Amino acid sequence: MRILIIGEGGRESALAAKLQKDVRVTKMFFANGNASTDAIGQNVHMSEIKELRDFAIKEKVDLTIVGPEAPLVAGLKDEFKKHGLKVFGPNQKVASLEGSKAFSKKFMQTYDIKTAKAVVFDSYNEAKEYVQKHEYPLVIKASGLAGGKGVVICDTVEEAEATIHDFMIRRIYGDAGIRLVIEEFLQGFEASIIAFSNGEKLFPCIPVKDYKKAGNGDKGPNTGGMGSVAPSPEFTAEHSADFEKNILAPTITGLKAEGFSFKGIIFFGLMVTKNGTYLLEYNMRFGDPETQVLMALMENNLLDVIMDCMNGKDIELKFKDEKAVCLVMCSGGYPRNIELGFEILGEDKVKHSQLLYAGAIKKGNKIVSNGGRVLNIIATGATYDEARKKVYEDALPVHFDYSFYREDIGKF
Ligand code: AMP
Ligand code: GLY
Repeated sequence: MRILIIGEGGRESALAAKLQKDVRVTKMFFANGNASTDAIGQNVHMSEIKELRDFAIKEKVDLTIVGPEAPLVAGLKDEFKKHGLKVFGPNQKVASLEGSKAFSKKFMQTYDIKTAKAVVFDSYNEAKEYVQKHEYPLVIKASGLAGGKGVVICDTVEEAEATIHDFMIRRIYGDAGIRLVIEEFLQGFEASIIAFSNGEKLFPCIPVKDYKKAGNGDKGPNTGGMGSVAPSPEFTAEHSADFEKNILAPTITGLKAEGFSFKGIIFFGLMVTKNGTYLLEYNMRFGDPETQVLMALMENNLLDVIMDCMNGKDIELKFKDEKAVCLVMCSGGYPRNIELGFEILGEDKVKHSQLLYAGAIKKGNKIVSNGGRVLNIIATGATYDEARKKVYEDALPVHFDYSFYREDIGKF
């Protein structure tokens, strides 16, 4: 079987490392890939959908797995399907559940899915008027894709007005910000639940905790994710029951009612408050760095899981009764200004963990940093502490100039 994986992060490395173990996988291609995927298969450099489609036809790709959201939102599945190419992921319409926050909020409201109260605005003046009368904090979201930067938690009316101006008038995120979702602020802790869809049913994985802030103790700016832990120690059986009843079940009902059948991933971004579990957002793809810890604990053969979903069969997900911790090592300055191209040393000294490259590429016989989140160190253990000790011990000898990571991943 010939597989094309689209993306270049640690998530794609984790999927590739898992699929690599399957003897049926004869060749893997990555667009654009990284230093880990380079060692597993062939990295190819392209990102246009038409280019990817022509490549998949020429190389007789049997299955394409899409890591990031942008190609799905841009209609990759629709284009590939026209040419008989199989894609694990939703079409453009269904991907709008991630690509348009206004669309997904409407879906949540229509199907009574527990979520923050929100209003959608297309008019700058109406949005401005609304925030002048509202209580604070207030959450302002650009409806479209803004690379994870389109959500601002505003503490004052001045901040809210400035944000609306930035999004709607200055258009700092282009068209993504011409429509806004303004919603109530929810206080609590976050959890990520990633579910496989076979077109009919959803099969959730164990809950994961993602560390979103750049600094220790959840300080500093938001990032793509500085680390992850599975299962989330905070998300109890009670929260699971709440999620299943008030979020998962009505989502399945909504998907059916709208004819949004798809084979792929639906990722629930949750906020657990004292009033229960709320849905903040859907992502229609694997999470990064959630996937890294899920793959470390998943007992199933990943190719079987994906192919069963593709064939509309039911699956039974099984996870080791252990804990997994993933640490993300970043470029100095991330998530703001970073410099690239520093040589990464020390992989050979990693003893108890799995090292997966993310924003790192091979240059000659060196591996150099090439992104904000450069590499992941992942370990499992009987306890969080055991997994965490392995990860931090193995992180010590791994080095590149100005690298940094959080010290508190998996510490409870
Ligand atoms: P989203 O892309 O909608 O998940 O938002 C990105 C991040 O903003 C979330 O992971 C939360 O940390 C935060 N956030 C989003 N919506 C809310 C909300 N209603 N209340 C509090 N925090 C939120
Ligand atoms: N870690 C959050 C995401 O993948 O969107």
